[in-house]
Amino acid sequence: MASSNKIFLIGFMGSGKTTLGKELAKKLDKPFFDLDLEIEKAESLSVNQIFERHGEAYFRDIESKVLQVLIANNSNFVLALGGGTPCFNGNMDLVNSAGISIYLKYNAGILTSRLLNAKSERPLIRGLNKLQLKEFVTSKLEEREFFYDQATCCIEKASLMLVELIELLNL
Ligand code: S3P
Repeated sequence: MASSNKIFLIGFMGSGKTTLGKELAKKLDKPFFDLDLEIEKAESLSVNQIFERHGEAYFRDIESKVLQVLIANNSNFVLALGGGTPCFNGNMDLVNSAGISIYLKYNAGILTSRLLNAKSERPLIRGLNKLQLKEFVTSKLEEREFFYDQATCCIEKASLMLVELIELLNL
């Protein structure tokens, strides 16, 4: 696969985009950005507060704008997107025309267990019990895979090591 200056990590909440993104960026000596963090900086509010005060539609609007600015203002990066980013406002097309996208794929069962202890900072799953979380993840994932599947490549092996990923992508 051809190497690219802009690498986007996509996948459901809890798929490890930020953790892997930081490691990948360090390894490739590229700047790392986390889209949620950039949104929080731009709005001076946490993602939870943005959802609470302004609602999801407003968040999606800001999310796309911050994504566009990051792409326009940087020639080189690893960027971890939010779980919903690829699914709104044509963001997936924008991402794929700007660089390489990598889908970190897990099934609903694994995502549910990874998210059980990480619900509070995520407005869409706050307050759900285990059963509700499993149902939410299963149906949202089904809906979102249409977009995730448009990624340049997909990493399905949960245990895939960074070195293998770099080899796989020929970076
Ligand atoms: C969201 C995922 C979150 C964040 C927001 C909405 C989603 O990012 O953007 O809470 O719609 O899946 P992470 O995937 O980094 O948790």
